[in-house]
This record gives sequence, C-alpha cells and structure tokens, in this order.
Amino acid sequence: MKVLVVGGAGYIGSHAVRALEDAGHEAWVLDNLYQGHRAAVPADRLIEGDLLNPADLAAALDKTGAEAVMHFAALALVGESVTNPAKYYLNNVVGTINLLEAMRERGIWRFVFSSTCATYGVPDKVPIDESEKQLPINPYGDTKLAIEKALDAYCTAYNMGAVALRYFNAAGSHHSGEIGEDHDPESHLIPIVLQVALGQREHVTIFGDDYPTPDGTCIRDYIHVEDLCSAHVAALERLKQGELMKLNLGTGNGFSVKQVIDACRKITGHEIPAMMGERRPGDPAELVANASKALEVLDWKAKYTTVDEVVESAWKWHKDHPNGYGD
Ligand code: UFG
Repeated sequence: MKVLVVGGAGYIGSHAVRALEDAGHEAWVLDNLYQGHRAAVPADRLIEGDLLNPADLAAALDKTGAEAVMHFAALALVGESVTNPAKYYLNNVVGTINLLEAMRERGIWRFVFSSTCATYGVPDKVPIDESEKQLPINPYGDTKLAIEKALDAYCTAYNMGAVALRYFNAAGSHHSGEIGEDHDPESHLIPIVLQVALGQREHVTIFGDDYPTPDGTCIRDYIHVEDLCSAHVAALERLKQGELMKLNLGTGNGFSVKQVIDACRKITGHEIPAMMGERRPGDPAELVANASKALEVLDWKAKYTTVDEVVESAWKWHKDHPNGYGD
C-alpha cells in the first residue's frame, strides 16, 4: 500500500516509516519539521508541509497517490496544552480535520490515528481496558478525544475505516541504531534520566513520592517504539470501511519512576543522582494498559516487556547520539 505518514520525521513517525517499509508498503512522509528531523527520513520521501495549510495536504496526497494515512503530527506536551490551548486545538483538532477532509475529497478511506491513554484521565481501574470512561484532565487529552469522536462519526457517515491507537508511554529506539528519540525541549522520563548519565544534566527530579503506589512514585507502562509501530502496520492491514477500532497499546506491565531510574543506573553504570521534587500537576498515580484487545483484534503483543530492555534500547541511541540528530 502507498501510505502517507504525516509527522513521519518525528520520533514515533520515523519508526513507523521503517516498519511500513519492512512490511513491504511504500511510505511517504509529510512533516513541517517543527518537532521532526530531516535526517530521520529518506530525503527522497520527505514532503514539507503543514496540517494547517490544506493546499499542502492536497499536494502531498496527490503526489504520493496515497491509499492510506498514518497521522503522528500532534503536539503532545501536557503542560503547554494548559498554558496555550489554542495551539493544541488548532494543530491537533483543526489540522486533523483538514487532513480528514483532504482524504475524503479524494476517496481515501484508511486512517491510522495516534491517540493516547491521556484520554482516560484518572482511571477508575488499572490495568485500563478500552471500556474505561474517557474524561481527560488536560487540553492535550481533550484534543485527542475530540478526534476519536470525529472519527466515529466520519466512519459511520462517510464510510471511512480508522483505528485510534491509545498509546501508553512510548520509549526506546530502532534496533539499527539509526533513529531514536530527540525532543526539544525533552520532557519524558527515560531520555531525561539518560541525559544525566551523559553528563548533560546534574540530576533527575522525581515528581512526587507520596502517590499511593508501593514506592510512592508514579507507575507507567513503557512500550517500545518498534512494538508500537508493528501494531500500526497490523492495524492498517485490518482496517474495514465504516468501522473505527479503538485499541490500547501497552505492555501490560507497570514500572515506577524509581524503578526506571534504577534500571538506567544498572544499564549505564552511572550513579544518576536523583532529587525529590513536588508532584507535577495532572499526573495520575498509575497508568498501565490492559492490551488484550490488541492481541485479539490484531494478533499483536509487545515483544519488549521489561523496562530494562526498553532502557537498553534507548541508551543505545542516546550514547551514540548525545546531541540527537544535531550530531
Ligand atoms: N517524571 C519525573 N521526572 C521527570 C520527568 C518525568 O519524575 O523529569 C515522571 C512523571 O511525573 C511521570 C513519569 O515520570 O510520573 C513519566 O513521565 P513522562 O513525562 O515520561 O510521561 P507521561 O506519563 O507524563 O506522558 C505520557 C505521554 C503523554 C501522554 C501521557 C498520558 O508522553 O503524551 O503519557 O498521561 F499525555
């Protein structure tokens, strides 16, 4: 299939491009390079353009003859979504609707959407399954839920076929060592801790140790980026017109902030000083996936199941590319 990967020069999108090519698909990238990196994708497959410019979307779909779209081009900083919601609603909601409209005008019906466990807000029960109530606690989660709802309506009314993949915490890097995580600013736990090991930060601050968890720090489900992307390919190949699938993507295993830091200490051999800090607003105590629906529907499950494996993979990228793509 010819697939347009929107946001394909970013962290997860660039790994999806590799996964698509490995599965025999033809992947093209549309990216505005706001968070994406030119070096993360083959130069002859990159089209520069923006979701907020419908002419860019039309040109990319026409040039590539895309039969399907994977959409990774979202803003995803929870704190920024609180202070600057307009930026999030414009890019994540208006931009995505622009994309769906450009597809609809051309009769392109296959759509793979990056959703998030942030749509669940504070869950009633962990592990979280797809029937959990969706009550986001920040504008970022609201924008993702808005698109899930739009997709429900678009699939029914316009016979599109889509999947909303609700990611837990994406981490790790490609086994080739060629692509990995490079955000500016970096806000995610594992790269921040590895920056301490690289001598780029003096310490990591643990955001709260008074949560109702065994060691008092927040628990998350760290899913390897290659596992995430293999699920995208499996979902793409199973899309049906008129249907929206909603699937959690996680490992089913939770690790605390302290456990992640300990894994990083063990793998890097660095002492990694940690300081205790205040809770970060909007952090639920525990987010762990029940990913059994993805196993049932896609015949997919995560191959990387421990935080040690995920940290080892992330470390491989960070130690060889201490300045990310800036090397
Ligand atoms: N943390 C620290 N110190 C840091 C950075 C993070 O203690 O310097 C903690 C956080 O408080 C959290 C855990 O490490 O408990 C993981 O934090 P991340 O920022 O790496 O990831 P989040 O769980 O906050 O975010 C992820 C996705 C978001 C999504 C969110 C849903 O990256 O896009 O899950 O809750 F919105």
